[in-house]
Amino acid sequence: MARSSSDLHGRRWWRSSAARILAGVASVAATAAVLVTAPGADAAASTLGAAAAQSGRYFGTAIAGGRLGDSAYTTIAAREFNMVTAENEMKPDATEPNQNQFNFSAGDQIYNWAVGRGLRVRGHTLAWHAQQPGWMQNMNGSALRSAMINHIQKVMAHYQGKLAHWDVVNEAFNEDGSRRSSNLQGTGNDWIEVAFRTARAADPSVKLCYNDYNIDNWNYGKTQGVYNMVRDFKARGVPIDCVGLQAHFTGGSSVPSNFQTTISSFAALGVDVALTEVDVTNASTSQYTALTQACLNVARCVGITVWGVRDSDSWRSSESPLLFDGNGNKKAAYNSVLNALNAGSPTTTPTTPTNPTTPTTPTTPTTPGGGGCTATLSAGQAWSDRYNLNVSVSGSSTWTVTMTVPSPARISATWNINGTWPSSQVLVAKPNGNGSNWGVTIQHNGNWNWPSVSCSTS
Ligand code: XIL
Repeated sequence: MARSSSDLHGRRWWRSSAARILAGVASVAATAAVLVTAPGADAAASTLGAAAAQSGRYFGTAIAGGRLGDSAYTTIAAREFNMVTAENEMKPDATEPNQNQFNFSAGDQIYNWAVGRGLRVRGHTLAWHAQQPGWMQNMNGSALRSAMINHIQKVMAHYQGKLAHWDVVNEAFNEDGSRRSSNLQGTGNDWIEVAFRTARAADPSVKLCYNDYNIDNWNYGKTQGVYNMVRDFKARGVPIDCVGLQAHFTGGSSVPSNFQTTISSFAALGVDVALTEVDVTNASTSQYTALTQACLNVARCVGITVWGVRDSDSWRSSESPLLFDGNGNKKAAYNSVLNALNAGSPTTTPTTPTNPTTPTTPTTPTTPGGGGCTATLSAGQAWSDRYNLNVSVSGSSTWTVTMTVPSPARISATWNINGTWPSSQVLVAKPNGNGSNWGVTIQHNGNWNWPSVSCSTS
């Protein structure tokens, strides 16, 4: 697919900006005798998460708690992805098995597994006609409305400040664009907006998404139904931040030719868009390429999540719809997606160069080598709110890098490490078995100074 002129503009901006950043670094290097490598903007990344991060996007997977004991599974998942959705463990039947008795053990297990490796987590899902606990299935009217509100409040309180997104409402529309009849719909047509308002109040830090399937074809009734709801919400100030297209191109569906139009049309309403549950019958390389490219071509398409790791993990395993085969081998579709991500130029608008404090002032570009290893930082892509740093560690293959970001900046994503977080400002990174080049996305919150790093062999 052709690049738009705005894409080309973004890339040119990046190149000239990178040159200026390097010039600034070079003068630091002269006095402090530090190593600085060229920005990795053009280097091909070797994992899906790192490749997506080059354009400020994530690449995620659904994780099943029951598979966390399978090291072949966890090795692939931790290496390739930088976003996680619990496949079933944060749904209402899992989190509130008895009314007002909450159980977060399965959800927390996935959450802790993910953040311990530097991956972020999408919450899925709070209000849905399916996978309700038995007590909720038997409820209706005002009692159910109250129970839904209580469920949203309690579950979101538990994960307050911890998640990237929440799928607040899932699958509330019929194929013709009308509302799906369900016990939740029976509580009144305003149940969706009440869910979103409740969610915003419960955790203002997390992005609130509406998520559905078969909303991929712009000319389809259901797509238009959801689009009209989101447009109405934005017009009336109902809090909604994102739309998730499940993008299950299985079970008879395939990527429509107007998929990008659908993504850009939602984005034009002022919401982020994500592809949240991708799978494709027989992992068609052309369809995986097309859906990845469609996301890359829309600045507000923030990430892609595939619905499982290996074909054998898929809810539709008979269609072999994922990027790894049952033995954990990369399939042709994996390479199609990776190549598309690596070729995709940044389409998000980078920071305008008018900001005089655009990241030109690394405080500590490398660690002194005293610890037996050296961590070298280099600039990656930058946006108005965040920037990427590439980290290259030399001197030892058994390293521990401690990175401290200057307040109020925060690390919002990492790739290609095993990470732990002593605090929100401090990351302890160790190798994940996939080399010594890794990176972070830093939400600068006004402080563009680079983090300090120290490296030790342990
Ligand atoms: C599926 C899971 O993958 C299965 O393990 C479970 O049995 C049923 O749900 N839309 C969604 C997901 O939003 O939560 C569903 O996940 C797939 C369809």
